[in-house]
Amino acid sequence: MALERTLSIIKPDAVAKNVIGEILTRFEKADLKIVAAKMIQLSQEQAEGFYAEHKERPFFGDLVSFMTSGPVVVQVLEGDNAIAKNRELMGATNPQEAAAGTIRADFASSIDANAVHGSDSPASAEREVAYFFAADEITSR
Ligand code: PPS
Repeated sequence: MALERTLSIIKPDAVAKNVIGEILTRFEKADLKIVAAKMIQLSQEQAEGFYAEHKERPFFGDLVSFMTSGPVVVQVLEGDNAIAKNRELMGATNPQEAAAGTIRADFASSIDANAVHGSDSPASAEREVAYFFAADEITSR
């Protein structure tokens, strides 16, 4: 199995619900290590840059406005098949379609306020990790 790193974001709705710890625990219980983490308030510019690939989508404005509506926790998760494993723990984008027991089924309320983000491929993981963390902010253990 490949040792991978992936970017995870605990979104403003989950931070407001006070479930940061419960979400991080799910990662740890699934053998994903948190090798970097910080809580930040995204600026409009940061959110637009992060979601640039969705710029033409009709929901882009709503997505940026939601992601800047409160603090988020960004983390780098490391482990075997971390990218797919995190996506599995998260569940489907729309919480109504998310499998029982997934983070989104348990904590998300709508397709935009959907609790967590996770990189969807090795290429996006590389870009997204570097978007938020300098190399010397990521630990190895
Ligand atoms: S894709 O094509 O698979 O990348 O698209 P998808 O994963 O469905 O969505 C990408 C991100 O956009 C958010 N999204 C929305 N936000 C607001 N309103 C609507 N209708 C909406 N639909 C999708 C979705 O939560 C995804 O956010 P991230 O942070 O990437 O999970």
